[in-house]
Amino acid sequence: MSTAVSTAQMHSRVADFVGRPRKMFINGKWVEAASGKTFPSYNPATGEVMAQVAEGDREDINRAVKAARAAFETGAWPSMSASQRGRLIWKLGDLIEEHLEELAQLESLDNGKPLAVARVADVPLAADLFHYMAGWATKIEGNTIPFSPKYFAYTRREPIGVVGQIIPWNFPLLMAAWKLGPALATGCTVVLKPAEQTPLSALLLAELIAEAGFPAGVVNVVTGYGETAGAALAAHPDVDKIAFTGSTEVGKLIVQAAAGNLKKVTLELGGKSPNIVFADADISSTIAGASSAIFFNHGQCCCAGSRLYIEQSMFDKVVSGVADEAKKIKIGPGFDPDTSMGPLVSEEQLNRVCNYLESGFSEGAEAVVGGHKRAGSGYFVEPTVMVKTNPSMKVVREEIFGPVVCAMPFTDIDKLIAEANQSEYGLAGAVWTRDISKAHRVAEKLRAGTVWINCYNVFDASLPFGGYKQSGWGREMGHESLELYTEVKTVCAQL
Ligand code: NAI
Ligand code: MG
Repeated sequence: MSTAVSTAQMHSRVADFVGRPRKMFINGKWVEAASGKTFPSYNPATGEVMAQVAEGDREDINRAVKAARAAFETGAWPSMSASQRGRLIWKLGDLIEEHLEELAQLESLDNGKPLAVARVADVPLAADLFHYMAGWATKIEGNTIPFSPKYFAYTRREPIGVVGQIIPWNFPLLMAAWKLGPALATGCTVVLKPAEQTPLSALLLAELIAEAGFPAGVVNVVTGYGETAGAALAAHPDVDKIAFTGSTEVGKLIVQAAAGNLKKVTLELGGKSPNIVFADADISSTIAGASSAIFFNHGQCCCAGSRLYIEQSMFDKVVSGVADEAKKIKIGPGFDPDTSMGPLVSEEQLNRVCNYLESGFSEGAEAVVGGHKRAGSGYFVEPTVMVKTNPSMKVVREEIFGPVVCAMPFTDIDKLIAEANQSEYGLAGAVWTRDISKAHRVAEKLRAGTVWINCYNVFDASLPFGGYKQSGWGREMGHESLELYTEVKTVCAQL
């Protein structure tokens, strides 16, 4: 079976996108990198170069920040009414829906995920995010504070300014939406740096941003590597805020880089989320849920349910159920309609995941199913259920970011909670039970930004998402995200 995608299988706009080198979007114009350099984007199903993209660096970041600063301070954007701003954001959501197929294809080609998944998840969720945030543009309000009859005092919520946004490759378009939505709703301007593995959908999004009618410089997209373009953006003295999603390791570098001008920072980082199954749970929905919690997006989710805690009496049943689900998964290229799991995003990620598998086995873990890289080309790895794992093992402590779950039995609920919370991360968790009070008690005890009850990976633009502990700072989506894109100004007048 050939895993290469022919241009005949592509939408014409997508074929054009991968057919010639892509420029960056700065100040409303399509420009080459100042250095003239480009870098390759690979098709993870084959490992072959699929497209060439402008390789932005410090100079391009400088140009983009300058454009974003000018757009923030002068011209159409700051003089626009909130309602006009909301309309532009709504229009962008509509354009994403209109161009769903092109965006889904680019996402599948660049990231490897099944095209069918990109069509029903990544792209519609991105459109929803903009539609949701469009409504907030007109609802950003301050307060009057009647602390004394001698004074009139009020607060204003003002846009924070020029925002640098650095996003990862696991949901390239959706992460761009999560970041851009609240920034635009509050009236900020943006320099967005997509991940080097998956730059294409952000560039098509920039075309749609121009088509929607956003003024030049409001959104700039600089493609390039993290260590160069990303680092320059994080350190830039004229950037007011940096918003980052990615590894905890780079999150810490962002904090250091931001210290130079004390820019505001929000971070959405790694996770090692506990997925807790009680013996009284509905068995079939739990098995399906525990399986998709780890295998959705090939486990490349910051909130993946990667530590599966199962009450002892149900352990064998749930483990074999999840293993059966894993066996049903059809691994293949994203464009194949039969594929339910594509390749990992990159060779680097494949190697990371395979190293974790080996580390697990060398520490005594066993795979009930999977456990290997798939032979042949492309970055495919088998969905894996590991047992005989314990909290001291690397595979239980560290984020694998692949389709690998560690299943562990429990008997005592207090010990379980302690073990579930014994992690440097605190992004998400879930509990499966028919006992409603137990469900909410566990939800309260988990030190995590999201807890799902009898479900997993349920996202909505209205639900805040983010981490405790080393899973991050701040929240994305929902009303909470807007506050992190504004400054509060207190105005106090003597009467
Ligand atoms: P990464 O953290 O290196 O990359 C994420 C983004 O940060 C990319 O846009 C990259 O270009 C940029 N970046 C990298 N180094 C930078 C620097 N020094 N300054 C500024 N920006 C920089 O993540 P990577 O290497 O792609 O994946 C490694 C691991 O990170 C994964 O295995 C996974 O565990 C975790 N990860 C977590 C994600 C999440 O959603 N929380 C998303 C992607 C990765
Ligand atoms: Mg990295």
